[in-house]
Amino acid sequence: MSEKPINGSSNGHVERMFNDISHKYDMLNNLLSLGIDRSWRRKLIGRLERKQAIHLLDVATGTGDLAIAAALSTQATITATDIAEKMMEVGRLKADKLNLNGRIRFQRADAESLPFPDNTFDALMVGFGIRNFHHFGQGLLELHRVLKPGGQLLILEFSMPANPLLSKCFKLYFGKILPKVGRFISKHPDAYNYLPESVKEFPYGHQFVKCLQRAGFETAHFTTLSSGIAMLYEAYAGVQEESIRVVAPNGSAVKSQEVSRIHSPHDTLQAEK
Ligand SMILES: C[S@@+](CC[C@H](N)C(=O)[O-])C[C@H]1O[C@@H](n2cnc3c(N)ncnc32)[C@H](O)[C@@H]1O
Repeated sequence: MSEKPINGSSNGHVERMFNDISHKYDMLNNLLSLGIDRSWRRKLIGRLERKQAIHLLDVATGTGDLAIAAALSTQATITATDIAEKMMEVGRLKADKLNLNGRIRFQRADAESLPFPDNTFDALMVGFGIRNFHHFGQGLLELHRVLKPGGQLLILEFSMPANPLLSKCFKLYFGKILPKVGRFISKHPDAYNYLPESVKEFPYGHQFVKCLQRAGFETAHFTTLSSGIAMLYEAYAGVQEESIRVVAPNGSAVKSQEVSRIHSPHDTLQAEK
């Protein structure tokens, strides 16, 4: 699994950047995605297994849209984490207005070193966050560690459309138009340059499915959204025979877990197009 930072940005840099744009994030998101991102989030929520009383973790929750959507459409208790406190402040206000603060608990946490015991959550979701992690391989191992065996993982992330014409339009929009509009409105010098750069370098489709498998996830597959602009990944926490060693990026903390293997009901890799 690649431990190379995707775009050279440290977690501290990413945290500052999202804190700086937190007050404009929702408005810019709606504007720049033309509202399509809401349909992607709905798709993810539609795939959540609706068991009673599940404990759900929304990693890199930002301003809490996924956590709020999940609270509105399930009975789940939700923990929502992010490294950028100011993004979560916006989320807390939105959840408060909807009387959901009893159901959603926002907590500052780095996805690469989550402050939860092994096997805590029944399901886990990440919306457009994973590409921002400094070492996303480490992040995936952490997600696997805190998910209960058989627990469901749902990830939304940008990708490159396969259609050459669409891909050209996407690159033009992401590379030229979006950074200019984003910079003008957010007044942040590079937050909206960072977005296309991080998307360009991030693995998607089958390549990302392999990363999920290497982190211990089973039945990993993806669904292409909006002709390949984004992808929804779904996988289940398998239980590994071998011990999983989780090494913090600075090499200081080493945790390991020994567990026995359970075969999941679907053992094949599927790729939906
Ligand atoms: C593009 S926003 C997505 C927010 C939200 N999930 C959504 O769907 O709109 C990415 C978020 O990832 C968070 N993030 C980046 N790296 C992180 C890390 N290592 N741990 C936790 N959150 C992180 C950022 O602070 C930011 O709020």
